[in-house]
Amino acid sequence: MNKKLTDKVTWVGKTDWELTRFHGDEYSTRKGSSYNSYLVRDQKTALIDTVWQPFDKEFVSRLKKTIDLKKIDYIISNHNEIDHSGALPELMREIPGTPIYCTANGEKIIRGHYHQDWNFVNVKTGDSLDLGESKLVFVEARMLHWPDSMMTYMTGENILFSNDAFGQHFATESLYNDTVDQAELFAEAMKYYANILTPFSSFVTKKINEVLELNLPVSMICPSHGVIWKDNPVQIIEQYLKWADNYQENQITLVYDTMWNSTRKMAEAIAAGIYEADPSVMVKLMNAAKEDKNDIITEVFRSKAILVGSSTINNGYLYSIGGLLEMIKGMKFRNKRAAAFGSYGWSGEAAGQLTKALAESGFEIVNDGFRTLWVPDESVLASCAEYGKQFAQSI
Ligand code: FEO
Repeated sequence: MNKKLTDKVTWVGKTDWELTRFHGDEYSTRKGSSYNSYLVRDQKTALIDTVWQPFDKEFVSRLKKTIDLKKIDYIISNHNEIDHSGALPELMREIPGTPIYCTANGEKIIRGHYHQDWNFVNVKTGDSLDLGESKLVFVEARMLHWPDSMMTYMTGENILFSNDAFGQHFATESLYNDTVDQAELFAEAMKYYANILTPFSSFVTKKINEVLELNLPVSMICPSHGVIWKDNPVQIIEQYLKWADNYQENQITLVYDTMWNSTRKMAEAIAAGIYEADPSVMVKLMNAAKEDKNDIITEVFRSKAILVGSSTINNGYLYSIGGLLEMIKGMKFRNKRAAAFGSYGWSGEAAGQLTKALAESGFEIVNDGFRTLWVPDESVLASCAEYGKQFAQSI
């Protein structure tokens, strides 16, 4: 159901309660998501973003109940990944000549996706569109998180339509940040930042500072996923500045996979050693083969240091760890320390390869890693605990 946010602005998006996987299998969405689209009605009318293609017919049909489509003067496409531009073909069948305002990169992406010669108007930072009493002012946000990304600021209502920035994959009926479970909301906002925006943190800092310098009043931040930040909207901006600044908590996370529990036993003994050395540190263990990969990335994001462990198999490490290392490499984490560990039977290459991979991903390597032959006995487990102690003391 479409929902009025102010006299001039109506949410016309889609809440997707059932979504569990996003971007193929790349992102888990245990709390669903939403594709937020906004209808802005002044003397002129603009539609900001659409929804994901599977909901295109529902979107257009609901939009028709709110407005005669022919009265839409402009379409603003802040970002053209398919979850926001997916309903354009269905919509443009009805209003084919309506101008689509987007960045030059946005036009390329829309053309590449839909192969249509629609009426594109390219905009840059500072360009604006007069709607009557209010104006839409465009702010390019390149690489936040695609080359085409931009935000749109509405004067008068003082609303920032931020698209993916400040979003969360979080389905809610109420729409607003102050009427949902706060622990769930911030967990999802952090997971979203950790998994989607971490590689672009330097752009986040730069863009936020650039926008803050404009001293624009902000009554609401309306992202393209999840809640609208209405209660103290600046809180999510402040949070992003912290997350973008090589974020870490007093946490050490051990991520491992294990064939016959030897590497698991090592992980548990190392964790005990870390805690013994520093009871103030939060220690978490995650089996990469059993835990959600995006949750693991979020915990790595929160950590000041990580330990990655794997049994050696076929002269290498286990595939769950391989997949995770590939994700970690893409995140471009900075200011984090790491070391490796693992059990082996004969050749024992895993720990060395993990150390190398972690170094190549930008982690500061604390030591050469710790290996155990076959199943660790009490004395080896004591050595693991000692290894954990030394690791904690070196952080
Ligand atoms: Fe929500 Fe980058 O699309």
